[in-house]
Parts: sequence; structure tokens; C-alpha cells
Amino acid sequence: MRPSPVTLTRFILEKQAAPPGAAGEFSALMAQIGLVGKMIAQVLRRAGLVNVLGVTGEINVQGEAVKKLDELANETFLKVFHHSGLVCALASEELEKPVHLPENWPHGRYVLLFDPLDGSSNTDVNMPLGTIVSVLRYEGSGLPSEPEMIRKGTRQVAACYLLYGSSTMLVFTAGQGVQGFTLDPGVGEYLLSHENIRMPRAGKVYSANEGNSRKWPSGTRQFMEYLKAPDKATGGTYSARYTGCLVADVHRILLGGGIYLYPGETDKPEGKLRLLYEANPLAMVVEQAGGQASTGTMRVLEVEPKTLHQRVPLIIGSREEVSLAEDFIQGRR
Ligand code: AHG
Ligand code: MN
Ligand code: MN
Repeated sequence: MRPSPVTLTRFILEKQAAPPGAAGEFSALMAQIGLVGKMIAQVLRRAGLVNVLGVTGEINVQGEAVKKLDELANETFLKVFHHSGLVCALASEELEKPVHLPENWPHGRYVLLFDPLDGSSNTDVNMPLGTIVSVLRYEGSGLPSEPEMIRKGTRQVAACYLLYGSSTMLVFTAGQGVQGFTLDPGVGEYLLSHENIRMPRAGKVYSANEGNSRKWPSGTRQFMEYLKAPDKATGGTYSARYTGCLVADVHRILLGGGIYLYPGETDKPEGKLRLLYEANPLAMVVEQAGGQASTGTMRVLEVEPKTLHQRVPLIIGSREEVSLAEDFIQGRR
């Protein structure tokens, strides 16, 4: 008889894949994140038919045009978590300030910082999209202040992303390895499909927006040229893969190896990606799978954040390629 399917909740409870002593609460949290993913995936599957394409006409705190699907994804998060009794504060890429739950509402210990829809340039052309979630536990009394939500990446108790691709996947870590689940739309459950994901030590894919290469510092450009030069030993070179969705590009590299870069630029050394709800959660996942995540000069998870929406250069993937990139960027090659 086929083994019974392993659902997200069953996995977390059976393997205690949770922050210490919190399996029950954490599995409820992950189930709610999974619910957000199902609700977003449901809309994305029919986006061209239900008037959710295009922009809202607003500009968000990032200075970017807000897509209707950004707003819908953000509202889905707030709706699901407002009354969950699991969180005490939420911070979103789409909201300038954090959302503190009213004192008289049920709340829990978790703080979620999230990018509700990652890869927004893909919304109207049916290309991959994602959701990224960073999970902190607040140990103080009452509700956390904004500075208490702005913590360096090593303080995360878990990290998770959803990938809305040919199938919808949920990938998470709670510090004991990386687990991948695939949504079975027929039963509405995430079923274990990629247990204990390990990233190859090296790969054959690089992922970067080379349209920006003229703006990169010389070390970064030299690294990219090195990747493209025929490999003396094997003659092989790297293949370029870039979808415009960080989650999709990093997921490919998580499974197959290689490197994703959104580096600093000469006139924008901080780069584009946001530290707290893009770089940090993906860095935790990638490190837990045996990979590496760097700003080019330091470990992403050690960056001491100052503001909620601060940006950081991100060089993430297999250990071999990331440390080679650091050598070039820091002038050792
Ligand atoms: P978001 O849609 O949440 O703003 O994220 C977009 C990010 C990331 O997903 C992607 O890798 C990168 O921006 C694409 O940027 P470019 O279009 O500048 O390449
Ligand atoms: Mn994003
Ligand atoms: Mn986004």
C-alpha cells in the first residue's frame, strides 16, 4: 500500500520541526501561512479573468507602483492573521509602518515580516511569483515596538517562502533543515515532496539582471566574466536563468546549485532587495540547506538592521560560487 501522504501539519508535529517547545503553535502558524498561499494561488490561477491585473494607481513606501495583486496578497495576509491569535505584530513590504494588533484582540508570540507578493513585474504576464515570510518570536510583555521588530537575521526562529509556479510550493525551515511541500489543489493540502533539501556545493547556473551590469562595481563585473569564461578543466560554462522573481530564481538554485545576485551598484551600494523580508528569510533557508548568503562583504544574517525597509545587496547560492564572488568583490582575485 502507498505510504500515507505527509501533510505540513503532520510533518511539523511528528518531526517537531519547530522552534523548541513550540511545535503545536508553530504548526498552527505554518498552517495559516499555507492558507494565505492557497488563497493567493487561487486568485493567480484565474488572474486574467477576474480583473486583478494591472496597477492600483498607488505608489508604495518602496517608491514602486503597487500592482492590484500586491494589494490583494497583502490584504490576504492581514485578514488571515488579524484574528489568528498567533501573532502580535506584522510588517509588510507594502506598508510603511508595522501593524500592531489591538490590545484586546487575541494575539500570540510571533512577529511576521513579509513580502506578500514577490516578483510583481511578472503579475500581468503569467510568470512565476512568490511570497516570503520571516518569523520572529517576541519574548517581551505586551506588544513589540517597531525597533523590537527590526532584528538581525540570526534572530529569526523560522523562514518560509511560497512559490506560485507550475505548482504551488511551500518551503520552510525552523532551524532543523529545509522542507518542501507541494500543494495538492484536489485536496487543498500541502504534501511533503522535497524532504531535507540540500543545496549542491557548486552549480552551473547564475541568475542576475545583467541589464544593470554597467552599474556594477568592477569586482562584481570581473566575477561575472570569470563565471562565463570557459572552465579550463571541463570547458563548461554557466547558464543564465533570470525570471524577475527572487523566490523562483533562488528556488532553482536551492535545488540545483549556482548563484543569484542582486549586487550593490556604484550609485546604489545598498542594492534593491529588502533585508528584513526578502534577504534574511531566504538567507536562513539557503544556509539551512548548506548554501551561503552574503552582501558581498559579510554574512547577510549578521547585518545589523536600522530601518524596516532597508535594502541590502544579495549574493546567495552554493558555497563555492558565493565565496568566489566575495573574493572578487573584496579584491582578493
Ligand atoms: P518585489 O516584486 O517584491 O518588489 O520583488 C522584486 C525583486 C525580486 O523578486 C526580483 O528578483 C527583483 O526584484 C527583480 O528586479 P529587477 O526587475 O530590477 O531585475
Ligand atoms: Mn520581493
Ligand atoms: Mn513584493
